[in-house]
Amino acid sequence: MNQHENYTLIGPFTQILTMANLPEAGPITDDELEVLEDGGVVVSDGKIKLIGKYNVLLKVAQEEHYRLEKISEPMVLIPGLIDSHTHICFAGSRANDYAMRVAGKSYLEIARSGGGILDSVRKTREATVVELVDLLKKRCDRHLNEGVTTCEVKSGYGLTVEEELKMLEAIKLVNKHHELDLVPTCLAAHMRPPEHTDSKVYLQHILDELLPQVKEQGLADRVDIFIEDTAFTELESLEYLTAAKELGFDITVHADQFSTDGSRVAAEVGAVSADHLEASGDEEIVLLKEAGVVATVLPGASLGLGMHYAPARKMLDGGLCVAIATDWNPGSAPMGDLIMQAALIGAAEKLTIAETLAAITTRAAKALNLTDRGCLTKGTQADMIAFESSNYKEILYFQGKLKPTIVWKQGRRV
Ligand code: NIG
Ligand code: FE
Repeated sequence: MNQHENYTLIGPFTQILTMANLPEAGPITDDELEVLEDGGVVVSDGKIKLIGKYNVLLKVAQEEHYRLEKISEPMVLIPGLIDSHTHICFAGSRANDYAMRVAGKSYLEIARSGGGILDSVRKTREATVVELVDLLKKRCDRHLNEGVTTCEVKSGYGLTVEEELKMLEAIKLVNKHHELDLVPTCLAAHMRPPEHTDSKVYLQHILDELLPQVKEQGLADRVDIFIEDTAFTELESLEYLTAAKELGFDITVHADQFSTDGSRVAAEVGAVSADHLEASGDEEIVLLKEAGVVATVLPGASLGLGMHYAPARKMLDGGLCVAIATDWNPGSAPMGDLIMQAALIGAAEKLTIAETLAAITTRAAKALNLTDRGCLTKGTQADMIAFESSNYKEILYFQGKLKPTIVWKQGRRV
């Protein structure tokens, strides 16, 4: 019996875009992309063992009796996509918010009149864990089909200890059974819930009663907060996040969506990422750069709210590591199509193909502190997606209409 019988050679691919060896931050030109023509990948135990010219690998495979998974169409292979910011664990729809918004009401006006996030809180609280699991699972199915192999998911529609635990439990259950890898984040500080009149008291309650349980039960390693006039102030956020960090959580923040306090907080607490950043200017870019915070832009929220995009070009030129995520949520970003959104912000902001693809693969991995995925090299997780094309540029050129034909999660076709 051969020791390599559980090795599989997959290929040939017309092009393999490895997304390896790219700068961690700042601009990237398309010339910097490593494109393997007529390439193949050897996978085993969910990881990439070898990657290179198909003909060379085929010889090895025949000698060592690897399994062969033949690709007969011209295809481009890239790493599985990483959506580093979503709120896809929720019940209900906010189509009524949408109708109000396009009739001229602002996001903040809708929130103040009882719609908005708190509407999703009501509906999510009414849902059972089983119902939430079912809804989340369906959204994961869709994401996986569209090439997303790792996806961050936030709580934040519970806003009590019990309801936040319910959401995180639902995320954990889906993660256990679904091929898509979920990265949970506790967003109990999404908004002050109606039962509380004092934000400081609510945040302290979360720190005392919820976060220790989240840690103990291994429900999340990350904590998020929404820093904005209608949510939490700079000072409240700073105190909360400092305490959460002391409890051992990684920090990410909803920052600079409408006003600019958030990135200052992100820089000060040493957040892994600051997300949104539509309102960020030169000063905020410098702060994030100096603190080594990943800038995650969310074109889906700009599209949903009819707002301008975050200044991604300026951010890259200012030396930031820019990730792109969907922010898929029932309110501001119901679409959830990562490739389409990346292509649209790329076209509007004049991002190179390399910068845009890095923002949904290797740089999105950085936004989640993941070092084992996001590029295709020896030893990384064999999360890979293949498109029927002979030119990787077509993936963004078709603005989301070209869907992956094959998705592999840890080397297994799904
Ligand atoms: O990232 N800005 C705050 N939170 C979400 C919106 C969530 C919702 O509207 O339900 C966001 O856009
Ligand atoms: Fe968000």
